[in-house]
Amino acid sequence: MDHVQRAHFPHHQLQQQPQIIIRALDVGALEPDGADAVRGLGARPKTLPPKYFYDAQGSRLFDRITTLPEYYLTRTEQLILADCARRLGGLVGPADLIELGAGSARKTRLVIDALMAQAALKAPLLYVPIDVSEAALEEAAAGLVAAFPRLVVSALVATYETGLAALPPRLAPRRLMMFLGSTIGNLDPAESEAFFAGVARALEPGDALLLGFDLVKTPGVIEAAYNDAQGVTAAFNLNMLRHLNRRFDGDFDLGRFQHRAFFNAEASQIEMHLASAGAQFVRLRKLGFATRFEAGETIRTEISRKFRFGDMAAAVERHGFALAERWRDDQQWFAVALFRRV
Ligand code: AVJ
Repeated sequence: MDHVQRAHFPHHQLQQQPQIIIRALDVGALEPDGADAVRGLGARPKTLPPKYFYDAQGSRLFDRITTLPEYYLTRTEQLILADCARRLGGLVGPADLIELGAGSARKTRLVIDALMAQAALKAPLLYVPIDVSEAALEEAAAGLVAAFPRLVVSALVATYETGLAALPPRLAPRRLMMFLGSTIGNLDPAESEAFFAGVARALEPGDALLLGFDLVKTPGVIEAAYNDAQGVTAAFNLNMLRHLNRRFDGDFDLGRFQHRAFFNAEASQIEMHLASAGAQFVRLRKLGFATRFEAGETIRTEISRKFRFGDMAAAVERHGFALAERWRDDQQWFAVALFRRV
């Protein structure tokens, strides 16, 4: 009698509990809003953190980038995942899915499908997306629960660091942590070391990490992906200034900055910059900040690193992981790797 009730409990729980929970953690609680922008613009050379790309307009522009003919990253990763999803499910087994950065719904769905096939009949599948954009999380969660009635979404509005330290309790025997799109390439070597250490802390032996990253290739192919013919990437880059103007009462003149993107071979990274068309002063009044630009001086807005597969595998393995499987496209432009926490 007793265990009959128990057996039915998860089913009732699924029907009575909300299917989506969104928790906002103190994003950027370590320092006041905009302090990182002031620090970056005060430095030489000037830099700004890529997170300022992603206001509502910036997220829309990025979505357009992912469909450009020159931008091979998203499309290639999507192909790889469609190909490997079945095997991935079998390799990982029943697992909660944790995703860093709100992925494109299509990529996430492929992996959810694979994990659903592993979960016990009627068992709920826990999906924990972590992102700084609450709007992106709400939109993704709504679409996913509509498509997957057995999905329970427990979203965290947080930086990766904060989110990883605040994961909800496990539902399944394992965790699958997913970091796709080569967003890892936005982190410089020191930041990426700290990032893998945080991921390792959040996982236990037997848990898995699925990492998507862009590979070294002919510089012309890479440079074209960040200098598209339609100018969408240029608009995406410049939109950061519009975002800062609105958010911090700034007076960047968007007509006096130009998009630049080039491959820095020594560092094996694309760099995106905004170059000042002449000498000028810019203020961010809400932050009590002003700075001068020389003609041609740039702000570096993003690095996007390109990796050799073996280098990345070694970097992850140094943090207590073992490579379990790797997948690449035919041209070997992009890689998806599965690691197991040891
Ligand atoms: C989302 C960080 C992976 O680096 O390729 C696209 C962002 N920047 N075009 C990348 C981006 C310019 C993208 N990531």
